[in-house]
Amino acid sequence: MPKIVLGVCGSIAAYRAADLARDLMRAGCEVRVCLTDSAQKFVTPILFETLTGNPCLIDTFDEPERGRMAHLDWARQADLLLIAPASANTINKLANGIGEDMLTTIALAFEGPMMLAPAMNPAMYQHPETQASLNNLVEHGATLIEPTEGDVVAGESGQGKLAGNAEIVGTALALLNRSNLLAGKRVLITSGPTQEPIDSVRFLSNRSSGKMGSALAQAALLMGAEVKVIAGPSMAIYPRNAHVIEVRTAEEMHKAALAELSSCDLAIGAAAVADYRPSNPQEGKIRRSDDAISLDLVPNPDIIAELAKSGKRTVGFAAEPSTDLTVAIAKIQRKGLYAIAHNDVSNRGIGFESDKNQITLIRADGVQETSPLASKLLVALWLLERIAE
Ligand SMILES: Cc1cc2nc3c(=O)[nH]c(=O)nc-3n(C[C@H](O)[C@H](O)[C@H](O)COP(=O)(O)O)c2cc1C
Repeated sequence: MPKIVLGVCGSIAAYRAADLARDLMRAGCEVRVCLTDSAQKFVTPILFETLTGNPCLIDTFDEPERGRMAHLDWARQADLLLIAPASANTINKLANGIGEDMLTTIALAFEGPMMLAPAMNPAMYQHPETQASLNNLVEHGATLIEPTEGDVVAGESGQGKLAGNAEIVGTALALLNRSNLLAGKRVLITSGPTQEPIDSVRFLSNRSSGKMGSALAQAALLMGAEVKVIAGPSMAIYPRNAHVIEVRTAEEMHKAALAELSSCDLAIGAAAVADYRPSNPQEGKIRRSDDAISLDLVPNPDIIAELAKSGKRTVGFAAEPSTDLTVAIAKIQRKGLYAIAHNDVSNRGIGFESDKNQITLIRADGVQETSPLASKLLVALWLLERIAE
């Protein structure tokens, strides 16, 4: 039975942790709860002890079993550390390695996957320190379940509501049930957009956020892989355990991908590579005039097709403006891919820029399967399970 330590912080949303503990138990997990001091202003240990049948930890020096050093004991036994709701205060402490209460001390001693589901006032969430801490924790491998937008307390509205239990539980289960199919494998991922210079200050690009590539990197690491990412310019945060090679243009991405190809077992092309680039980017700035100008575009290298040519298992992404799979299927043959993930980017709720995705995986042998509509991390885990075998 997978063991979860559920950390609860001082937030109005602390009451939701009771249901969360129940939902996780219903899903077959053993749950142990650690409350911060402030959490006790909102909920009581007896609530969680009664629900879970396990003692609840609060103070760093609590010792339900004498001599076992509970912070180390719980950290060693847990398969997952889930902090929900995670307060701004605890997030900022975690990012700075501070262990001044039981929860942050367990987090320091814990070596497995950590999930954070923040809940707070939108200004606290957007505070530069909170955002920097979250980025830092994600870079170190934490899984962030972003708060949702809506009405929060005190008549305000914005991003700060604790995510739904279904999303938190679904992600926890996916992390707990992840396979280690990629243990010992080296995975190469291209991610994000490319920028094709028009002159020294302008470029052609696209709406790719790099979030799917980042989720694939995180998922591959969780499944035991060694990960290299060739990343086009974006705000995406990549895990620190991945080796990230930053590039700007399709030609740079092409060169980097070919250089890394020999040292990979599986290549995934999640980048939205520009098909064309201006043939003659201008030095300096093209000046405004009343005359029409035209751009001469030349084709960029087909990176994914070249990766596939090597014989390495290669999986592409097809961002298509509809649910029609015809173009994606044709690409499998034309480019020699093992499989392709069709992404309907006409649906604003998934794909480009969104935190969620849904893909249809089509393999060269004709097998098709559609993923659930879920966070990009869950979709990445779903995809890797299917292409790693
Ligand atoms: C009524 C009330 C509600 C609060 N709700 C939140 C919240 O939702 N999220 C948050 O980060 N802080 C919230 N705070 C502030 C935290 O409780 C405070 O920063 C505390 O130090 C957090 O401690 P902890 O991180 O150890 O739980 C709230 C404070 C009060 C008085």
